[in-house]
Amino acid sequence: MSIEATHDHALIPTVGTGAVIHPRWVRLTHWINAVAMLVMIGSGWEVYNASPLFPFTFPRSVTLGGWLAGALLWHFAAMWVLAVNGLVYVALGLASGWFRRKLVPIRPGDVIADAKAALTGRLAHDDLAVYNAVQKLLYLGVIFAGIVIVLSGLAIWKPVQLQALTAVFGGYDAARYVHFFAMATIVAFIVVHVIMALLVPKSLRAMITGR
Ligand code: HEM
Repeated sequence: MSIEATHDHALIPTVGTGAVIHPRWVRLTHWINAVAMLVMIGSGWEVYNASPLFPFTFPRSVTLGGWLAGALLWHFAAMWVLAVNGLVYVALGLASGWFRRKLVPIRPGDVIADAKAALTGRLAHDDLAVYNAVQKLLYLGVIFAGIVIVLSGLAIWKPVQLQALTAVFGGYDAARYVHFFAMATIVAFIVVHVIMALLVPKSLRAMITGR
């Protein structure tokens, strides 16, 4: 892999012929996150089923762990992977300038224009190194949802030791709802995100090989 030396930072590849679109750390943390998220969601649904917040439960066929205790083991194992990997991604994203370069600025006018173009099939995908405004908004949004889901998860995992954090969410019960809605937001993101990746297969290739 040839990450050309840039004036800025070696963590950010330069754009040009044969250049790396997604540096190795972005790809690694992305795919570790994808697996950890799926384990967290599948096991979380089984945990939810033991004490539902709403008048529905998730079908057994899509949950992980088999029963409450099994699901909690999966949930508590994958949470370390999710949290540590997420911290690495956010720290490197901030320190390297990746977020600054790729995810901002987001102008409302661009979001509307790009959303219209996407819905009418006129959105260009010629430069994979540049995210469109809708993508930027969704990526920043899901990173925020990821932070909320980890913090609300900590609040309901250790409500006594982390009382201050639990209080920020309005108490244990409210934190459970926040945790649930953050999950729903992330699931909605994943559905749209995976459809988009399949519709533009070269973007998927770039997220795997870097090019
Ligand atoms: C499991 C199936 C998944 C697939 C197939 C997938 C695919 C992709 C692809 C192809 C890109 C690059 C888009 C482009 O170059 O235009 C990307 C970027 C991204 N994906 Fe996913 N993804 C998956 C899961 C997830 C999950 C679970 C999350 C978070 C909850 C996520 C969050 C992101 C973010 C934040 C980026 C931008 C990364 C950056 O540039 O720093 N993805 N994904």
